[in-house]
Amino acid sequence: MKIFHTSTQLRAYLDERKHLTRGFVPTMGNLHAGHLALIAQAKASSDITIASIFVNRLQFLPHEDFDSYPRTWDDDVQALTDAGCDLLFAPNEAELYPEPQTYKVHPTPELADKLEGEFRPGFFTGVCTVVMKLFQIVQPDVAVFGKKDYQQLAVIRGMARQFALPITIVAGETLRADDGLALSSRNRYLSADERQAAVGLSQTLRAMTEAALMPQANIQKIEADALETMRNKGWQPDYLTIRTQQGLRAIDPAQREPWVVLGAAKLGKTRLIDNLEF
Ligand code: PAF
Repeated sequence: MKIFHTSTQLRAYLDERKHLTRGFVPTMGNLHAGHLALIAQAKASSDITIASIFVNRLQFLPHEDFDSYPRTWDDDVQALTDAGCDLLFAPNEAELYPEPQTYKVHPTPELADKLEGEFRPGFFTGVCTVVMKLFQIVQPDVAVFGKKDYQQLAVIRGMARQFALPITIVAGETLRADDGLALSSRNRYLSADERQAAVGLSQTLRAMTEAALMPQANIQKIEADALETMRNKGWQPDYLTIRTQQGLRAIDPAQREPWVVLGAAKLGKTRLIDNLEF
């Protein structure tokens, strides 16, 4: 695998291979099997596979874990090499943001200011800004994003559509541990006891889907009960909610369209998110 730390070098390399289609997987590193599955999807749909590793300060609030975000360079390079990734773009901050990034991509508030956007204001502006910039540098034909970050995927799809980006956005399924916990870089913050309890989030989401599928289900009550159950188990939930897959709108139970249950909750100091389509 070739590693590039500057966009100039990456572009020079890619310019000589213009005839090859490019599959791109942007990441913040600390790669796990979920990321490697995205790499496999990119490989399957393009000639040349490019991953990026960049912990993007713009998408962290001041009190969040930017400084402590796990940086596992050697392991990541080995994992990407083993996965058959062709190129890794790993810029430092001065390379990607040589001057303060005052031009930003502001996604539509209807989609981006709720759920994650409500609890992490500005998060999706940070995500869209860096992804747009990475897209400009890599110029991929296909870009793969995990469904684990469900709202992020929707926001990126909207950005690609509204800016007419010539990039096919592909969704990767969430990978789970044997007990059902969605794989996430932040799982490594969990203590042994918390790791055992962490499955509670996906279990709650599963229970919510089952309740929502019952005749005459009261969605608001299902959501309120789920919040209470999680709190009683020692979690601090931000939201546990059932939405339409399209647009993440509040659902109208009379109108059955594809739904998704989404949750974000803190266990100790670790904030986990998960979702299930149904
Ligand atoms: O999902 C992530 O890891 C990040 O939000 C992304 C898409 C790499 C942008 O920094």
